[in-house]
Order: sequence, then C-alpha cells, then structure tokens
Amino acid sequence: MNAFSFYNPVKLIFGKGQMEQLKEEISQYGKKVLVVYGGGSIKKNGIYTQVMSALDEAGMEIFELAGVEPNPRLSTAKRGADLCKKEGIEVILAVGGGSVIDCTKLIAAAAKYDGNPWDFVTKKAFPKDALPFGTILTLAATGSEMNAGSVITNEETQEKYGWGNPLVYPKFSILDPVNTFSVPLDQTVYGIVDMMSHMFEQYYHNATNTPVQDEMIEGVLRSVIETAPKLVKDLENYELRETILFAGTIGLNGFLQMGYNGDWASHNIEHAVSAVYDIPHAGGLAIIFPRWMRHNVKVNPERFAKLATKVFFVDPKGKSSEEVAYEGIDRLADFWASLEAPSNLADYDIDGSKIDLMVEKAMINGEYGNFNKLTAEDTKAILTACL
Ligand code: NZQ
Ligand code: ZN
Repeated sequence: MNAFSFYNPVKLIFGKGQMEQLKEEISQYGKKVLVVYGGGSIKKNGIYTQVMSALDEAGMEIFELAGVEPNPRLSTAKRGADLCKKEGIEVILAVGGGSVIDCTKLIAAAAKYDGNPWDFVTKKAFPKDALPFGTILTLAATGSEMNAGSVITNEETQEKYGWGNPLVYPKFSILDPVNTFSVPLDQTVYGIVDMMSHMFEQYYHNATNTPVQDEMIEGVLRSVIETAPKLVKDLENYELRETILFAGTIGLNGFLQMGYNGDWASHNIEHAVSAVYDIPHAGGLAIIFPRWMRHNVKVNPERFAKLATKVFFVDPKGKSSEEVAYEGIDRLADFWASLEAPSNLADYDIDGSKIDLMVEKAMINGEYGNFNKLTAEDTKAILTACL
C-alpha cells in the first residue's frame, strides 16, 4: 500500500432513538440554525416534526431552506448562503439524503465567502472558513454524512462536479435506521447501487499488498448483496435497514480507501450523464459500472477475477482469469437487474444524440481514472455500450 494519512472528525451517532442527541449536539454551535431539507419527504414521514420540536426545546431560533433538489443545484446553495449571511446563521442542520447534505456543505462554505460558490466546485477558489453543520440522514447511499465531499449541479451550464474540503466535514451525523423506513423502493435500490459502486471504485486501484483493505471491501459487499434482496421485499425491516445504512456510511467515509486512490472513473462518467439528463445518480451508475468493468478487464484480469470469486462466488476451476472476470461482471449486472435497477440508458429514454456532449463533460479535466486512465475514445466506447 502507499503511505497515507487518515483523518475523519465526524461524530457518528447511530441507532434507534438517536434523535434524542440532537438537542445537545446542535446547541454547541450557536442559537441561530438554518434547517435545510428537500422536497417534502420529511414532512410526510414525521421527521420534520421531531426535528423542529428538538430544536424548539433547545431554544434555537429556526430558519428554513426547503426544496433542495435531487442533484442539488448551485442556485439553491446560493439562496441558502444568502440567507445565512442575511440572518447571521450560526449553525446549519441538513435533514435528508446526499443531495441535502451536499447542498448544505456548499452553503456552509459559501456563507463565509464573498464570491460565487461555483468557484469552490470548479476549484478556482478554496474555502478558508465554513459554518458548522450537522446532519440527520434519511437515505442510505452516498456516505456524504461522514465525508467532506459534495456534488453540485450548475443548471445554467449543465455541469455537475464533485468538490471537497476538510472544512465541510459534518460536525455530527445522526443515523437512525427508522428514518429510512419510508424511502421508496426505487430510491432504496439506487442507494444500494450507489454504495456498492463506491466500494467497486475503491477496489480498483494499482497499489500492491492490500489484503486487509480487500477483505474489508469484499466483506461489506457480501453483506450488502445478502441483505438487499430481502430489504426490497420488506422495506420497514429494522435490521435490514440498519445493515444497509451502516454499509453506506462505511462505503465512503475513507475507511475503505486507506493506502491507495480508488478509480472513480465511473462516477466521473455518471456525473457527465446526469449533468446533461438530470437522472438519478445511481440509476446512471447501474448502467455504467458493468460497462466500465468490461472495458477494463484486460488491464488486470486477476483483480476482476478476485472480485468475481470472493464476492460473486464464481467457481474459477478450469477457467482463465478473464473468463472468471467476465462471469463476475455478468453476475453483478444480473444482481442489479434482479433489484430492478436500470440497465441501459434507453431506460431513461436517452439515445446517442448527445454522447459527444457527455464525453466533452467527462473530459473537462483531461484523462481520468486511477486504475486505468480513460481517454475521450474510451469514454465514448463505454457510453455507446450503455445505450
Ligand atoms: O427531497 P425529498 O422530498 O427529501 O425526497 C428525497 C429525494 O426525492 C427522497 N428521500 C430521501 N429520504 C427519504 C426520501 N423519501 C422518503 N423517505 C425518506 N426517508 O429520495 C430522493 C433522493 O434523495 P437524494 O438525496 O437525491 O439521494 P441520494 O442520497 O442518493 O443523493 C444523491 C446525490 O448525492 C451525490 C449524487 O451525485 C447526487 O447528487 N453524491 C454525493 C456523494 C458524496 N457527497 O460523497 C458521493 C456520491 O457518489 C454521489 O455522487
Ligand atoms: Zn456515488
């Protein structure tokens, strides 16, 4: 493995009834709080009422930013930052999934910045300060609750990029599996695809001697694969929700990526697709990842074969590494199809007419991917296979 430093300051508060801790946690950061949330799911499932009464009991002065979109938009983050500046907000509380949390991260940094928040996303500027914020996670997927990354869409220019900064780690994140009971079937499946994709991205690296990391990723993946088919038939099962919620957080909080850089090419391609078509992030990943894998088997067939045998239990007897690798990829595609995840861009009515535009967006910073550097030609081949 490569030399590394590991840092993750997020206080993770996990389990049934942990909303109780909100009052004490949030009070440490001030009295004026901005509550950020999405399109209304928290009002339907009762989480909004619980949050508001905890904040009332804590004697907080409450402001609200509602309507954060899935694939959160720059204009919404700007509105939130303006509100923070105008009202002298001291702390922010994100209540929702990855989109709400990602938007909150940009608001927290932009509230302390006079320029355009897009500067942070495009790395023209770097935050020097940020408002503190906590999260109440309502959807298991992105890991945003325990990392310092954020993905923002500029709806005017049709660009969607990730950015990150240690200043935007949440101070605390409260994860109660019960708060994910109301996540509908399709979003539950997207969450599962997203967290699995994060683990694949991290599994495909070029460092040597990573047996502990390999076992950790393979183990978390096996748990998700065992749990997911049961969960989609039993959405309010506490233990199944608990396993998936924990897996999503571990999937992208840095624990699985010590000693190497993951690949992240599939995420780059997906962000280009959802920048142009505004499709759900993991819907895109379910389509792209198996194609990225097939495109890259020859780079290191043994690595793919290892995943196939350890995670998808492909029997390697009498087969070449490449044969085992392809069988594993087929099993992954079949597994996602069995959960009714999309498998082709046509499932979103996307045809080939804007492939060149998507390639251009994926290539914005030149060749990308750490396991294997992808060119515009590679990107076009992968996207064409996705149609
Ligand atoms: O907006 P509301 O009404 O809350 O509804 C949301 C939304 O429609 C709904 N939902 C969330 N919790 C619910 C619920 N519905 C019922 N009950 C609940 N308890 O689910 C829908 C999707 O929510 P969203 O937050 O968009 O989903 P997700 O958590 O998958 O986040 C996706 C975003 O995160 C980015 C993606 O690109 C995408 O923009 N990512 C962020 C990452 C990070 N920060 O580390 C990494 C990821 O790879 C990803 O790129
Ligand atoms: Zn993702």
